[in-house]
Amino acid sequence: MGTDLHELLRSLRVWDVELPSFDPATAPADPLTLFTEWFAEAVAAGQTEPHTMSLATADTDGTPDVRTVMLHGADAQGWAFATHAGSRKGRQLAVRPYAALGFYWPVQGRQVRVRGPVTAAPSAEGQADLHARSTGALAAALTGRQSEVLGSPEELARASEEAWERAQREPDAPVPSWTLYRLHPQEVEFFQGDARRRHVRLVYRREREGWARQLLWP
Ligand SMILES: Cc1cc2nc3c(=O)[nH]c(=O)nc-3n(C[C@H](O)[C@H](O)[C@H](O)COP(=O)(O)O)c2cc1C
Repeated sequence: MGTDLHELLRSLRVWDVELPSFDPATAPADPLTLFTEWFAEAVAAGQTEPHTMSLATADTDGTPDVRTVMLHGADAQGWAFATHAGSRKGRQLAVRPYAALGFYWPVQGRQVRVRGPVTAAPSAEGQADLHARSTGALAAALTGRQSEVLGSPEELARASEEAWERAQREPDAPVPSWTLYRLHPQEVEFFQGDARRRHVRLVYRREREGWARQLLWP
């Protein structure tokens, strides 16, 4: 395989697989129901890691930032994710508590975008969520210092080893900086890719009562 980036890019395709059809006229009245349906369908279709999502935040001056995190849940309270409050994203959320999430499920040519304000769940809830996860998740959280400058790989190896030992010894070890955040959706957009580029975009916007739905040009 060649290594010329432009050549490689020209050789690649999207929406080149059989894609499901999506009739927005039959979509449910609220975006959480549709998200839950699409998520289950992504899992059933064999989409790898459908529970990973891009999380966009912004600096105080509005400069955007983005990274991948895991989805911890989506319910009437919002879309949940967890991280260290002292990380770069945690600091950004502390001063500008708004974010956007992006899911892409290429097996079905589907994208979901969610935007809205973010709040931190009570500490006990974040700790319970962490302790219900794997030993690796607890060890990673215990390692701490996320987004700080790392002096050397050895420093990380030492801290990680200690964290793994502690996570195994003390499965309920508290990690005070670990925080569960919830994004409260103001807007949720569902995109169904189409081989003929007649993509369907259905956006839900929160109104005083319930949700308004509109189609968007692709
Ligand atoms: C697949 C995947 C899942 C990840 N999940 C999380 C997560 O749930 N929480 C988290 O803090 N970081 C997670 N990360 C690491 C983040 O992408 C990021 O490197 C880290 O949180 C630091 O981001 P920040 O400096 O913007 O705060 C994940 C990375 C990948 C590739």
